[in-house]
Amino acid sequence: MKGIKHPRNDETINPSGNASIYDVIDRVDSKRRNFVKGSVGVAALQAAGGLTLSGLVNTVQAGPVPAGLGFPGIGFESVPASVSVTSAPAASAVADRITVPAGYTAELFVAWGDPIMPGGVPFASDASNTAAEQAKQFGAHNDGMAFFPFVGTDGRPSVDRGILAINNEYTPEEILTPAGIAGANLAAVRKSQAAHGVSILEARRRNGKWMVVKNSVYGRRLTANTKTRISGPAAGHALMKANEYLISDTGSQATGRQTDGFTAYGTINNCANGVTPWGTYLTCEENFNGNFGSNTAVPAPTAGEVGKMFNRYGLTKDGFNYKWHTQDPRFDLNVNPNEANLFGWVVEVDPYDPKSVPVKRTALGRFKHESAQYVVDAQGHLAVYMGDDERNEYIYKFVSAGKFNPADRVANRNLLDDGVLYVAKFDADLSGQWLPLLPGTVGVDGVALRDNPNFAGANDAEVLAKILIKTRMAADAVGATMMDRPEWTGARPRIGGFNKIEIYCTLTNNNRRGSSATPSSNKADGTTAAGSARPAVDAANPREDNIYGHIIRWQETGDTVKATTFAWSLFLQAGDTKTTKPAKATNNYKGNIVADPYGSADFGAPDGLWFDPFGRLWVQTDQIGDASGDWKNIGANCMVCADPNTGMARRFLTGPNGCEVTGIAMSPDGKTMWVGVQHPGEDATPSNPELKSRWPANQWGVESDGVTSLPFGRPRSAVVVITKDDGGVIGS
Ligand code: FEO
Ligand code: CA
Ligand code: CA
Repeated sequence: MKGIKHPRNDETINPSGNASIYDVIDRVDSKRRNFVKGSVGVAALQAAGGLTLSGLVNTVQAGPVPAGLGFPGIGFESVPASVSVTSAPAASAVADRITVPAGYTAELFVAWGDPIMPGGVPFASDASNTAAEQAKQFGAHNDGMAFFPFVGTDGRPSVDRGILAINNEYTPEEILTPAGIAGANLAAVRKSQAAHGVSILEARRRNGKWMVVKNSVYGRRLTANTKTRISGPAAGHALMKANEYLISDTGSQATGRQTDGFTAYGTINNCANGVTPWGTYLTCEENFNGNFGSNTAVPAPTAGEVGKMFNRYGLTKDGFNYKWHTQDPRFDLNVNPNEANLFGWVVEVDPYDPKSVPVKRTALGRFKHESAQYVVDAQGHLAVYMGDDERNEYIYKFVSAGKFNPADRVANRNLLDDGVLYVAKFDADLSGQWLPLLPGTVGVDGVALRDNPNFAGANDAEVLAKILIKTRMAADAVGATMMDRPEWTGARPRIGGFNKIEIYCTLTNNNRRGSSATPSSNKADGTTAAGSARPAVDAANPREDNIYGHIIRWQETGDTVKATTFAWSLFLQAGDTKTTKPAKATNNYKGNIVADPYGSADFGAPDGLWFDPFGRLWVQTDQIGDASGDWKNIGANCMVCADPNTGMARRFLTGPNGCEVTGIAMSPDGKTMWVGVQHPGEDATPSNPELKSRWPANQWGVESDGVTSLPFGRPRSAVVVITKDDGGVIGS
């Protein structure tokens, strides 16, 4: 997630054209072939181990990556990095289209503004659709997603029909309405609110083509104004009671009452996602702070509990400039300060029941949730692994008190309300600890959380409620490890002889890591401003100026999710093998991606991460996406497929100009894959929405059903559907 609504904390422009020795060294993959690229000097060759140029080649056709333990192999060749074309719109250095490997076909499935439910009207290319129309259309800036199959006629999960639940993370105000002015009036704010949330739609394949069933009874939108229920230990607490409003097209009218602490309106900044084994969708609220603001200065960090919480969660007067608060007092931090406490949760929704009320599960903690990956162990215990995506934040797991019951769906429905939330501490010896965020846990200051003034309560039930509402502060208190922006978590399938509980997490970047001669850490008393610390490098975050990011993984001790210790390792460090950026002491910016041919799958800023059921690891990236600055060689954002045994990676997809690739789902047979493309052509202007991209219209004139014309007018975030031309499993 990037764009004008979000902090530009991951951009770096390399002002230097100096070559370094790292430009000319390439790896030797002894099991396969030797490769070198570019002009190789004698000194460089000696440094590389005495290689000679003779017999080495610049490019080699790669063969299939063979199958290994729990891994079915990769059968496609990497698509090239998308670094420049001449036919793209002005100011575009990157092909304004997606590419997939030879033997695959990508089609447009659904785009921002497409109707997805009864009464929906088509997208207006001048963005003149109203808020009410948007509320029946696919939302903006799609992100995480999941496919929920119907039961086929043979009693098995259908591979032709099901429901896709797709997050709509945020909105591009500059192209969302014809005037493109954030907060211009209530109509614009209501449209922005209607474009946030989740789109739930029916997907069906007819005559070989996937399509959205546009009048399906399963079609549904969750928006910033949808009524939700709050459950779990924090439900009902005083901090969860906000001003009550009657929300309508004509405004939000205060009733003079407070909500009951069990009710909230809306879900916003729905970034990545998860599913449960009982077939519900988990949508994760990330940068909720940006949607709030105030017409007057907000309480200072020292101004009591509210000011302290605003500071730790990054709530400010201007937010990310949505200006909702100028039209809707519900989002004004001074008028309605507790409203912010109603966001930053994992929200569970049943896609099969269009009338179900989404539930905010407070037991999973409140932070900038990225995704929620479940694991059920052999004993039936369930854990949910989660990252808090901001610089120097933490990795968490929730472990349910009860066991998963595969025979009774209803019996599991409140499993996420009762359990223990842990935060991770990564030790330098490659072991780690899960620190429980409970009233009796003793912090690094020697004080139990129940005696810490941040969580003071009448009893332990209240202490726990406050721990969960102020999760970041509790993690500070117990000494969790600050990470380089934890994004998606993924669980490796226990198949093909692999039987460990092994979790992966993308750490997308952190330009503050190692950036100060006097490093600073998040303070144990919870007073650190969001993202402001400048930590030293450590074993789990080993590179200063970590602009390209890395992927960490861990195995639970004893193969149970209830373990309080784990063993961890770095799966890979991303980078640019061709970079000319001067190396730093702990960062040569090259990374150690294992690609074949070497350098063919360079990527950075890993964000989306997902194991398919066959054991392939898919990684999606979120960098600036226009091949500028540090990204000139890596080019557009992409998606790679990797072997968890060896780290071998191949690039499967490159995205259009300025987009992020995020969100992935598969049909049960693995032969259909949906992939999300978010914010193509970002940072356009209201007067020229197509300044940087006119995707997807300039790649396809129709959607996958071949029916709907796509007007030009502005770029649109969209989901594409990918199939293999021979009808095989994606990635095979
Ligand atoms: Fe919305 Fe952390 O990405
Ligand atoms: Ca990201
Ligand atoms: Ca993300």
